[in-house]
Amino acid sequence: MKVINVIIAEASLETIPSEVATHPAVISSCKLRKKHWSEVLLDTSLHYSAMKRLPNRLKRGRPDIIHTILLEALSSPINLEGHLKIFIHTLNDQVIFVDPVTRIPRNYVRFVGLIEQLFKYGQVPPNDANPLMRIVNLSFINLLRRIDRSKVITLSESGKHMDCESICRLALSEDLPIVIGGFPHGDFRNDIYECSKYVFSIYGKSLDAWVVVSRILGACERVLGIL
Ligand SMILES: C[S@@+](CC[C@H](N)C(=O)[O-])C[C@H]1O[C@@H](n2cnc3c(N)ncnc32)[C@H](O)[C@@H]1O
Repeated sequence: MKVINVIIAEASLETIPSEVATHPAVISSCKLRKKHWSEVLLDTSLHYSAMKRLPNRLKRGRPDIIHTILLEALSSPINLEGHLKIFIHTLNDQVIFVDPVTRIPRNYVRFVGLIEQLFKYGQVPPNDANPLMRIVNLSFINLLRRIDRSKVITLSESGKHMDCESICRLALSEDLPIVIGGFPHGDFRNDIYECSKYVFSIYGKSLDAWVVVSRILGACERVLGIL
């Protein structure tokens, strides 16, 4: 069966880092949640003032990006027909492996609870022999090795313009994963560009990551004759 591998790279998904654990914004949000800071997701809408101290802060603290992407991807016809594999590589070099049958909570608060459980136990459900999601420490290059690939197609607004259908045909013919950034601002790290056989832009302006995922999956559905 023809499968499209999509990697969401440098996803803006992490628990609160120790550098900001004592900031009042963090203390009050964790108190409300009745959770230790190390078990709470960093979220710029809650921890904006605390995040001013953090390096690379413009790329961090946006779990909502991954929520929207997973809703889009896992409910898409290409996934329902078994032609999609999606991997979430995070800014801290962790990788979330997602079972395609996973039903992501539609509600953001419930999604956050699920991802916090994932960070705490390493998988959800905890203690299940066949988890729906599991997270492991893995760099981008080691993720490629794990899935037996060495090169990728990276999507970036600064790449060479290419239409989505041609990108999908190339991904299928050369068996290359398609990489989309899971962060709100900025560019990919060098290690990701170093693994990129092609860098393509699908439009002349920067788009939100979930729009790019949606356009690419739609194009793959047409190329594969699903829609
Ligand atoms: C919100 S963008 C990343 C931030 C963006 N570089 C900026 O500073 O506004 C998220 C991801 O969507 C993809 N993307 C956004 N616009 C794109 C475009 N015009 N063509 C191809 N990919 C795009 C890239 O993979 C990018 O890393």
